[in-house]
Amino acid sequence: MRGPLMSSTGHAGLRVETPDLRLLCDPWVSPGGAFLGSRFPFPDNSHLRAVPRLLEAEWVAVSSAQADHMDVEFLSGLDESVRVVIPAYPSSVLHDRLSAAGVKNIVEVEGWQRVPLTDRGDWLTVVPEQSPMAHRAAFLVVADGVSVLHCNDARLSLSQTRRAMIEVGGPLDLLALDASEERFRAVKRLVRAVKPRLVMPYGGPGCFLDPELMEHNAVVAPGELPAETLTLLPGDSVRITPTSYECVRDPHWEGFAYSDSVAVANHLETYAASRAQEIADVWEAYPDPDAGSGLEDRFAEHFVRLGRMSPYFLERIAMTVRFKVAGADGGVWDVHLGTTDETAQYTFRVEARWLEAVLGGEIRWEDLLLSRRIHVEHAPEADGSYLFGLLMHADADALQAIEDYDKRDPDSTVTLTSGDRTFEVTRYCPHSGEDLAEGAVIDEAPEGLVLRCLAHNFDFSLTTGLCLNARCEPIVVAAPV
Ligand code: FES
Repeated sequence: MRGPLMSSTGHAGLRVETPDLRLLCDPWVSPGGAFLGSRFPFPDNSHLRAVPRLLEAEWVAVSSAQADHMDVEFLSGLDESVRVVIPAYPSSVLHDRLSAAGVKNIVEVEGWQRVPLTDRGDWLTVVPEQSPMAHRAAFLVVADGVSVLHCNDARLSLSQTRRAMIEVGGPLDLLALDASEERFRAVKRLVRAVKPRLVMPYGGPGCFLDPELMEHNAVVAPGELPAETLTLLPGDSVRITPTSYECVRDPHWEGFAYSDSVAVANHLETYAASRAQEIADVWEAYPDPDAGSGLEDRFAEHFVRLGRMSPYFLERIAMTVRFKVAGADGGVWDVHLGTTDETAQYTFRVEARWLEAVLGGEIRWEDLLLSRRIHVEHAPEADGSYLFGLLMHADADALQAIEDYDKRDPDSTVTLTSGDRTFEVTRYCPHSGEDLAEGAVIDEAPEGLVLRCLAHNFDFSLTTGLCLNARCEPIVVAAPV
C-alpha cells in the first residue's frame, strides 16, 4: 500500500490524494484574501494556482462560513460534479452562502456521520465543536488505511479526539491543527493526551497586507509539540503509509523559514506589494456613504431586528454598546441590548463604509470583526461572549441552538481528581457550556487549586467556585471527598 499523499495548500488547506481520491479541505487560494481584503494566507500560496491539477478534486470539504475557510471565489468556479461536504450546523448560513455562490453539489453531513469517498472503504466525517456558539468543525478522513484528523480552526475536546481514535480503530496517523500562540498550551495538552503518530501545526489567522493593518502582523514559528511534528509550507507534501512517512518539500520555499525573521519580513513586503491592487479594489468597492444617506436609521433598524432574534441573548448581554462611526454620514450611536443603562460597556470604532457593508448584507458581522477594520474597547471584566455570539451568528436558529445547549441539565455534576483529592463540580461550564468532564484541568494558582476550563481558559476556584479571571457565573463545588 502506497498511502495517501497529503499536501498543504496554505493556511488550513489540506489536499488528500490517492490513485482514486482527490479531496481538498478548506482551500483558501483566491488572490483577494478574506475579510474585506484584510487577511491573506501566510505565507503566500499563490504559486499553487499555477501547479497543474493541484487544486482539482472530486471532493471539497468546507468546515465553516468563515471566509478564510470558505473561499467563495474558488468554490464558485468548481465543476458541478464536485461534491462539497459541509457540516450540518444549526443555521443554514453556510449552505445558503455556498448556494448563492453557485455551488450545486452540496453534501450536508451530521457530526460523526460517515461519507464514503471511494468504493475501497475510504471515508470522511465531520466533528463540530461541542458548543454551537462557534460553527467550526474538524474533518476526520481515512484514506488508504491512513487516518487524519484535520481540525481546521475547531477546538475539539479531548473526548471528541478520543472518539475520533475509536472511529478509526487506533491512534491517529496525522493530527493537523491550529497551534498558533493563543491556542498553543491547549493544543500541547491535547497532543500529549492522544499521542498521534504525526502532528501538523498550521498557521493562525493569516497575515495583514493592507498598509493600514500591517502593524497587526506577528508571525510566530509554531512551537515544539510533544509528538513527531511536520511543518508543511504551501506546496509541501507528505506521503504517509501505516508504518512510515516521507516529506516532499516545495522548492519554492528555499531560503524561507518561519523562524527567520528577515526572510519573514522580506516575504511580507513582497507579498503586500503583490496584493496592492486587490486591496485598492476593496476600498473602491466600499465607498464612504454620503452625508444624509440614512446610515443612522439603517443602523437602528438593523439592531432592532437583531435584538428581536433572541430574548435569551438580550438577557445575557444586558449592556449598552457604543458605535463611533467615522465618515461623512457617521456619528456616535448607542445600542441598548437588554438594558436601559446609559454607560457603554463596549465601544466599537469603525468607518461608515465597512458598517454600511454589514447593514446592506454584503458582508457579515463576523467578516467585519475578523477584519480588524473595526476597533473594539471594553470595560474591564465586561463579558462580550453573547454580544459577539449575537453579531457573529445574527441568525435565530443559531441563537436558539445556543440557548438549548446552555440549558442542558444545569444540575448535572462531575467528579474530578487531583492527586488524592476529589472534587464534585458543576458539569457544564457556566461560561459557554464546555463539558468539564473532558474539557478541564485542575491547576495550582496563588489562590489555591483552580479548575481551568480549557475552552477559554477561565479559572474557577475549587474552594469558592468563583471565576477568578473573568466575569462569569460560579461553578458549584461540593466539599472535597
Ligand atoms: S466554556 Fe468558555 S471558559 Fe468554559
